[in-house]
Amino acid sequence: MNLDEHTTTWKQLNDHLASWVTASKVHTEDGHVASYIPELANAPADILGICIMDAEGNTVAAGDTDYHFTLQSISKVFTLILALMDNGEEYVFSKVGMEPTGDDFNSMLKLELVEPGIPFNPLINAGAIAISSLIAGDTPSEQTQRILQFFRELADNPALDINQDVFKSESDTAHRNRSLAYFLKDNGVLDREVDDVLRVYFSHCSIQVNCTDLARMALVLAHNGVDPIRKQRLIPRRFVQIAKTFMFTCGMYNASGEFAMNVGLPAKSGVSGSILTMVPGRYGIGLVSPALNRKGNSTAGVHLLGKLSQEFDWSLF
Ligand code: DON
Repeated sequence: MNLDEHTTTWKQLNDHLASWVTASKVHTEDGHVASYIPELANAPADILGICIMDAEGNTVAAGDTDYHFTLQSISKVFTLILALMDNGEEYVFSKVGMEPTGDDFNSMLKLELVEPGIPFNPLINAGAIAISSLIAGDTPSEQTQRILQFFRELADNPALDINQDVFKSESDTAHRNRSLAYFLKDNGVLDREVDDVLRVYFSHCSIQVNCTDLARMALVLAHNGVDPIRKQRLIPRRFVQIAKTFMFTCGMYNASGEFAMNVGLPAKSGVSGSILTMVPGRYGIGLVSPALNRKGNSTAGVHLLGKLSQEFDWSLF
């Protein structure tokens, strides 16, 4: 995109983003806040906030941008990258596959049905649990600290931390994730103890952020692993390519095809109602709106991204 195009887009965003947010907000009524993690049920159902950041760090933001929330499944993109940095591609893909499932994010169906019983991809819960076991560190707390350091670096925010209430709530009620982890252990996917792996997994899902943090992290992916603001490479190019490919094919779970058609950008959602996406080579985008559809994606968030993509012709296709 040339400078003129950027200037025009930026002006339009400044002029219209707030009214587009208001228009999308009605779609919060089509969804429900996640309640299978009790602490998440306290989230306000009717909010929507978004932050868009350019390569200089300028932002356009609208809606409920002060709201803090946990990364949930968005963290899986970055733990995948860290696992790749710690172990290399070959080892990581001996533990997880590369294909979408078409099933719900916490399904265990294919772990039993399809040999050799490794998760289909690193973004479903089973895959992300396997990835948590691959993060370097001798203990769960060393692994967690390593993840936190990496996320703080990417968000350029040393204050990022774990929301202990969400961590505890998730840990106390994660019967399904525990069964997934035991399945993985039995199938020979986990080299560590189930409880230790799950502690790392719950911890990274419970890291608290706001829309600006998300946009900042997305900006690094948008620029293929280079932080364009500090002009520093934080992730090898190849690992960003892998992460973005998964975001495209599996990032919105079993609604990834629909999202690819309507928005056409690599994205990742979390059950906190958050979505991280980007316009490659240009902007990092973070949004939150806790009301979710049946497949676990933010209803108003998906609507707003559809509008933006259409307005600015952002689809990669
Ligand atoms: O393990 C879980 O179920 C949550 N910590 C994360 C799931 C999630 O965010 C799925 N996203 N749409």
